Amino acid sequence: MKIKILTLFPNMFEGFLSESIIKRAIDKNVVQIEAIDMRNYSLDKHHHVDDTPCGGGAGMVLACDVVDRAIKANDNNSYKILMTPQGKTYNQQIALDLAKKDEIMLICGHYEGFDERIRDYVDCELSIGDYVLTGGELPSMIITDSITRLLDNAIKEESYEGDSFMDGLLEYPQYTRPIEYNGKKVPDVLLSGNHKLINRFRRKESLRRTIKRRPDLIEKANLSKEDLKLIKEIEEEEKWEHLVYCFIYHHFPQNMELVLWERKLINLLIF
Ligand SMILES: C[S@@+](CC[C@H](N)C(=O)[O-])C[C@H]1O[C@@H](n2cnc3c(N)ncnc32)[C@H](O)[C@@H]1O
Repeated sequence: MKIKILTLFPNMFEGFLSESIIKRAIDKNVVQIEAIDMRNYSLDKHHHVDDTPCGGGAGMVLACDVVDRAIKANDNNSYKILMTPQGKTYNQQIALDLAKKDEIMLICGHYEGFDERIRDYVDCELSIGDYVLTGGELPSMIITDSITRLLDNAIKEESYEGDSFMDGLLEYPQYTRPIEYNGKKVPDVLLSGNHKLINRFRRKESLRRTIKRRPDLIEKANLSKEDLKLIKEIEEEEKWEHLVYCFIYHHFPQNMELVLWERKLINLLIF
């Protein structure tokens, strides 16, 4: 796959392209990533790429002729994406869709943004969230990174297939050694070696975490009969947790250590 990034600051990409998984993916020819300086497409002898906004106001606006020339000179049937806080909010499904394309072009704005007419030359507009950055460079790195790790031979498929959002849920909690740290132990089931029980535990905790943190995702998730059973169990457990917590809080409000006992008691009741 080829990813072309049109930017006014190509040097910003040096570190990004020369470390970790992205560097290895480039070295293995899984992906070709090119940061292209849009200033090269200015006809102005001082390489100006922007001008003051028509109608007045603060800041500078990227000129449409410069961006248009940069797009045309580098377009090889690319899927062209404008980086803008006004675009569709980026998510894992969009990353999966983009990872199937042969070539994409990410166009980074700066300053006040783009001349409105640039929107006519792109296939879509993407935002990485409801906040405003100084330029499209970080958003384009985020998009490039999230796509690259999904490409064949970038990382092992099993490394990302259980990730949050891949099946519409958040990932289950993960642990590694030491088995006990500051009084907190890795759940026994993960040390049992019983993969059926481990998978069940992970699916259940993934559902529990999504219900608690992202109820909006649960509503859209494709849940199996087994998932619905697990959700019933979670509801029962959470009911118990709530009851025990209320009991401790009402009877021993000053002694917060008891809250820790409450956690242990719940674990005893559940596992
Ligand atoms: C300061 S911003 C311009 C914001 C613009 N005046 C507006 O209110 O929509 C400069 C550039 O940074 C990039 N950018 C800033 N925030 C972004 C976001 N949340 N997602 C994608 N790109 C963003 C865009 O390329 C944008 O043209």
